[in-house]
Amino acid sequence: MSKRNVLLAVITVLLLSVVAGCSSNEQPQSETVKENSQRPIIVQGPMPIEAEEFAQRLENVEKVKSGTTFEFYIGTVDDYPVIVSKTGKGMENSAAATAIAIEKYNPIAIINQGTSGGHDPNLHVFDIVLGKRSVNIGSLKTAERGENEGIDPTEWKPMDLMASEGSAGEDPNAEKIRYYKGDKDLLVAANAVKDKYTKGKIVEGTIGSADVWNNEIDRIKWFHNKYGTSVEEMETASAAQIAKAYDIPFLGIRILSNNKVNGGKYNPNTAAANQEYVYEVVKKYISTLPSE
Ligand code: 5AD
Repeated sequence: MSKRNVLLAVITVLLLSVVAGCSSNEQPQSETVKENSQRPIIVQGPMPIEAEEFAQRLENVEKVKSGTTFEFYIGTVDDYPVIVSKTGKGMENSAAATAIAIEKYNPIAIINQGTSGGHDPNLHVFDIVLGKRSVNIGSLKTAERGENEGIDPTEWKPMDLMASEGSAGEDPNAEKIRYYKGDKDLLVAANAVKDKYTKGKIVEGTIGSADVWNNEIDRIKWFHNKYGTSVEEMETASAAQIAKAYDIPFLGIRILSNNKVNGGKYNPNTAAANQEYVYEVVKKYISTLPSE
């Protein structure tokens, strides 16, 4: 190679490395979050009215979409990374949104929050339940009945799909209730700011989830007595199941927007009230995290 060609080759290599250096700075937001030494807190809400109020409180926000429905508002609270995830309604959406959030953003904790219907007659619209535990109330095994012997949901048994890798239908060990525990530290933070909420009371309880909206009072009572449910909704237990699969601290926080058992009429303003309270919980939790 002539001296001139050697010089040209060196310049080309230098130029290429500069170009490569530039493009590696233009990483998608998810990559930058992953590399942030502070792992974000994820705040999930199913419907727009259950997520956007919190998203508006974030600073430095960027909106990122996964697929056509899963939206993540990536921002900060008190200079700490917090991501609001609008999951969509129901068990499937919330499970998928949870797995996506964990794989993409490596969260330090997940809070699933939103509205719910009361199962406990002592709870009223605007009261809030901290999910000391959550349970899938749609995972059921019916009794054996022949043709023309009818159906009786009160005979149905709980079915624990996590009991084994074998057939849940055949396995008598699967005939039990599976509860997912709320994280202790998140519960401590939530209890510590209880007094900031003045629109109702805040209690620890059991959140039951399924893709079902129960309006039969006897059926609601059946769940309340058999499973100890305080409220029902359609997301918490499924997000809790996925968070547990990855060992991520998790808490459900659900406000009553309605309560069939004591005549509490549906009030959509509860969604915003819950987010105001959850914002205080998140700030408290951040203050308890060790600084870098
Ligand atoms: N039963 C079931 N889901 C309810 N939700 C609020 N109240 C109830 C109720 N009584 C929530 C669910 C879902 C949406 C339909 O509202 O979590 O996101």
